[in-house]
Amino acid sequence: MIGSANGTRIGITGLGVHVPDRVVTNDDLAQYVETSDEWIQERTGIRERRMVSEGEALTDIALPAARDALADAGVDASEIDLLICATVTPDMMFPTSSALMADALDAPQAAAYDLLAGCTGFMYALAQAYGMLASGLSRRALVVGGDVLSSILDWHDRSTLVLFGDGAGAVVMEPVAKGGFLGFELGADGGGGVHLQLPGSGSRVFDEPEAMLKMNGREVYKFATRVMVSSATAVLNECGKTIDEVDVYVPHQANKRIIDHAAGKLGVPHGRTVVNVDRYGNTSSGSIPLALADARADGRLRDGALVLMTGMGAGLTWGSALLEWSGTFAGGERARETAARRVP
Ligand code: ACO
Repeated sequence: MIGSANGTRIGITGLGVHVPDRVVTNDDLAQYVETSDEWIQERTGIRERRMVSEGEALTDIALPAARDALADAGVDASEIDLLICATVTPDMMFPTSSALMADALDAPQAAAYDLLAGCTGFMYALAQAYGMLASGLSRRALVVGGDVLSSILDWHDRSTLVLFGDGAGAVVMEPVAKGGFLGFELGADGGGGVHLQLPGSGSRVFDEPEAMLKMNGREVYKFATRVMVSSATAVLNECGKTIDEVDVYVPHQANKRIIDHAAGKLGVPHGRTVVNVDRYGNTSSGSIPLALADARADGRLRDGALVLMTGMGAGLTWGSALLEWSGTFAGGERARETAARRVP
């Protein structure tokens, strides 16, 4: 699926992220499997990741991100009419994590559903929210992406254990006065799905020993290096933009080698690629919002910046979006409006 914006300006007006406090280093993991800090850093670029503590689940890390995104946008939860949560590790299959969050945030008027597209979930959710907002079906959406992959890892499998971490992010999306999303490209290849599976998690097999992530790393690597380039190229072409015009490149944070390969093939100018896989590992649906937050913190995500985001993951799936960053709400100065609304 590919398409460019039809004239309706829909953008991101609020961003929030959250990771668990617990830092797990490569040396910590070497207590469980035969591995080393040297091997992990050399093959993946990962130094450490965050993991939840006993009893914590997705909504425990996604809610703080959602609250920060709302505060950043200056909107109340009561003004959100759509809440999409992209995840492969919801608290449970149902009630959905999105419904639980709508309740916790006090947004009973919001349509809420979880979206499952592997590590590409956040990109799919952005496109879904864009479509709902551009059509007028929704007026203001909260899009959450997050995962607690530590809960589905096989702690005896060194080929997967070292790659993943837990984290979440959220954005508020609504009509904006300038900038906004320019286009999306999304795809899926179920034929390659076997290379990244959680087999015991559905109606075919629902079995505890099979409810752990299984991956053919080499096949996923080949897939990833291919689609990270083809998807980004497709969305740039569709929107009539070139890679030189991209100010901030936000790739899914799976492996530093995959990121470097994609940035090199695409010809991303030096200094424009966001990398935080060293600190967080692969946080699946949390990866792209966490990287956006880092780009904003280091000053790269300034008003008018052209942002290219590409995700890929289980399904197998991939997705890209091109966005002109602008926090300006279409209705004018948000802070003043919010203050006025709160005056009794
Ligand atoms: N520590 C030490 N040795 C290891 C480890 C480890 N943690 N893991 C594997 N090895 C060994 C292997 O057993 C193998 O040994 P052998 O040669 O004796 O058989 C050797 O290291 C090399 O293994 P490769 O698989 O060839 O290593 P590679 O360089 O391909 O790196 C990796 C493996 C990091 C998994 C890489 O293939 C990769 O990044 N794949 C993509 C993964 C990915 O992006 N997944 C996320 C998808 S998103 C989602 O939806 C979840």
